[in-house]
Amino acid sequence: MSETVLGILASGRGSNMQSILNNISSGRLHAKIGIVISDHANAKVLEIAAVAGIPAVCIERKNFATKQEFEAAIAAEIVNHEVQLVVLAGFMRILSGYFIGLFPGRIMNIHPSLLPAFPGLNAHSQALTYGAKVSGCTIHFVDEGVDTGPIIMQQAVEVLPDDTPDSLAERIIKVEHALYSKAIGLYCDQRLSIEGRNVKIIE
Ligand code: GAR
Repeated sequence: MSETVLGILASGRGSNMQSILNNISSGRLHAKIGIVISDHANAKVLEIAAVAGIPAVCIERKNFATKQEFEAAIAAEIVNHEVQLVVLAGFMRILSGYFIGLFPGRIMNIHPSLLPAFPGLNAHSQALTYGAKVSGCTIHFVDEGVDTGPIIMQQAVEVLPDDTPDSLAERIIKVEHALYSKAIGLYCDQRLSIEGRNVKIIE
């Protein structure tokens, strides 16, 4: 079976993208990164792509009159690089119904909480402010809501009494790195089936 082509959308540090890359290089994930797209010119993820020799582009919202034109430019890169699965890895923008409709069931996101708890920005602070004893991370298909799409995988991480947003984030990101490649691998092996809100993992 040929490798599934991934398109990574990321706004910043790119540690999830790096871990996906590491898992591809070591043969644990049978996929290929066709393109990395960032909406920030100085995002570290662009440096990671450059070092790895992966095609990468910066597409900034400010260079487009409308959100739809911005998203159309991203979509064009995805199509041109024959991407099969769009992987949001710290992409800090809400995608519109227009964009999501172009790639139905083909956009995945990772979020650092156990959804539906603590969606949107600052998930770690939200968990601490709420007094949650457990948080974690969620990988889901993207729909038009904010972090509301059908859930693929989740893993819990304990919240410790002295946690700060940074210390909690540090433990959750380790789980993110392991879990994202697993979920992508299931997609690549055609083992995910979306049935309404439920994602079935085919044995
Ligand atoms: C990750 O913790 C990811 O779950 C989060 O941004 C971070 C990106 O880190 N995403 C969201 O909060 C999306 N709502 P990275 O750039 O090192 O992969």
